[in-house]
Amino acid sequence: MNFADTEVVASILGKSGFEPADDINTADLIMVNTCSIRDNAEQRVWGRLDLFRSIKRRRPSVVIGVLGCMAERLKEQLLESDKKVDLVVGPDAYRDLPALVTAAGDGHKAVNVLLSREETYADINPVRMDSNGVSAFISIMRGCNNMCAYCVVPYTRGAERSRDPYTIVDEARDVFEKGYREVTLLGQNVDSYSWSSGRDGGKSVTFPDLIEMVALISPMLRVRFSTNHPKDLSDELLTVMASHKNICRHIHLPVQSGSSSMLQRMNRKYSREWYLERVDSIRKYLPDCTLSTDIIAGFCGETEEEHLDTLSMMKSVGFDFAYMFKYSERPGTRAARHYKDDVPDDVKTERLNEIINLQNKLSAACKKKDIGKTFEVLVETEAKRAIAGRTMTGRTSGNKVVVFESDSARPGDYVTVIIEKATSATLTGKINN
Ligand code: 5AD
Ligand code: SF4
Repeated sequence: MNFADTEVVASILGKSGFEPADDINTADLIMVNTCSIRDNAEQRVWGRLDLFRSIKRRRPSVVIGVLGCMAERLKEQLLESDKKVDLVVGPDAYRDLPALVTAAGDGHKAVNVLLSREETYADINPVRMDSNGVSAFISIMRGCNNMCAYCVVPYTRGAERSRDPYTIVDEARDVFEKGYREVTLLGQNVDSYSWSSGRDGGKSVTFPDLIEMVALISPMLRVRFSTNHPKDLSDELLTVMASHKNICRHIHLPVQSGSSSMLQRMNRKYSREWYLERVDSIRKYLPDCTLSTDIIAGFCGETEEEHLDTLSMMKSVGFDFAYMFKYSERPGTRAARHYKDDVPDDVKTERLNEIINLQNKLSAACKKKDIGKTFEVLVETEAKRAIAGRTMTGRTSGNKVVVFESDSARPGDYVTVIIEKATSATLTGKINN
C-alpha cells in the first residue's frame, strides 16, 4: 500500500517539476513514507531519520519530510524531536505536497495531516517506480472501517472510501498497453469495495463487478488483489474468479487467530467455524487456489488453549504462506484502551516461533505437492544468483515463485514449466514449451 502511495507522491511532485535524485547525498528533498502497523516499523523510521539528520548537518538546505501513517499519528513528536523534520504529511494530503515542500524550503515547518472522506487520488496516474515492468499495484480504495481491536490503520488512514471504477480500469488498461502483464488491486478490505455514481438507478459497482471489468481488459493480463476479509469474502467473488482464468488463483485471507473467543476480542466479526466454511467454499469453487494468511501471536489475554487453536487452524487449512507477527500494542486502539497487553514477551516469542516452525512445514508440504505438476509462469526477472546458464524467476497464478533456466524467456512472457524440485520458499523447474 505504501509502495503504491509513493508512486502517487512521485506523480504529484513530478507534475510540479520535481525529479528523482540518483543519490540521497545529492537530493534537495528527502522523504520517507512510513508505516505504523507495529512498533518495530516505527522504530526503523526513527533510525532512518537519524541518517537524514546527519545529511542535513552537512547540507542544511536539505528538506526532510515524513509521509504516511507515522506522520498522521505522531505529528507533534516528529516536529518537536531532535530529528530535524521539516515536513509532515498524512496519507490524504499528498496533493498539497508541492506547496508544502516550497514552504519548508522557505524555512517554515510544513504540516498537513487532515484526513479526508473523499480522497482516492483517482485522477493521478502513478509513476511506476523500481518496477520490473511486469507487475503494477493499483490502489482501488483507501482507509478502513473495520476497527479490529489491535489495529491502528483506521486511525491513521481514515474512513473507507472506494475509487471510481472507470479510473481503475483505465489505469489497468494503460499499464497493460505499456507492456505490464499483471496488476494487483489494493485495498485494506477489497470485499467491501462499493462505488455508486448516483446514475444507473443508484446501482453500485461491487468488488466482483470491478474485478471482472479489469479481467476483461485482456486474457493476457493477470489480475491479483489484496486484502480480503473473511467476514466479507463472498461466493459471488469466487464465482467471478472461477469464470476468468486470468484472475489469479490466490487469496490472501488473514485469519489472525484460530480461536473464536480470541477473534471476538480482536473484533474480527467471524468465528473459527465461519473462517473454515469460507475456506471450504474457496476449495469448492477454485480447487487449485492457494491460500495465504496473517497471524498474530500473543494478543491480549491469549491463553495457551487459544494459541493451540491457532496451530490447529493452520493445520486444518494448510496455508501455503503466512505473514506472522508478535502482537505489538498501538496507542489509541481499542485494545490499548480496553485490554491489557498481558502476554509476557518471552511467551509471545515462544508462540510466534511455534507458529513459524509449523508454517515452514506447511509451506514445504504444499510446495512438495507441486513436484511433477506443470504451471503457466509469468516471467518476472533474471534471478540474482544464476546457477548455470541464464536463470529466470517468475510466478504461478497461485503466486508461487518458480526458478527455471532459459536463454529466450523475457520478463512479461508466459512460459510453461514442469516442477522438479521444491523448498519451502521456491519451486525449481524446466521449461516445457
Ligand atoms: N500487532 C501485530 N500485528 C498487527 N497487525 C496489525 N496490527 C498489528 C499489531 N498491533 C498485522 C495483522 C494484519 C497485518 C497487516 O498486520 O495481522 O493483517
Ligand atoms: Fe486493520 Fe482490521 Fe482494517 Fe485490516 S481490516 S486494516 S486489520 S482494522
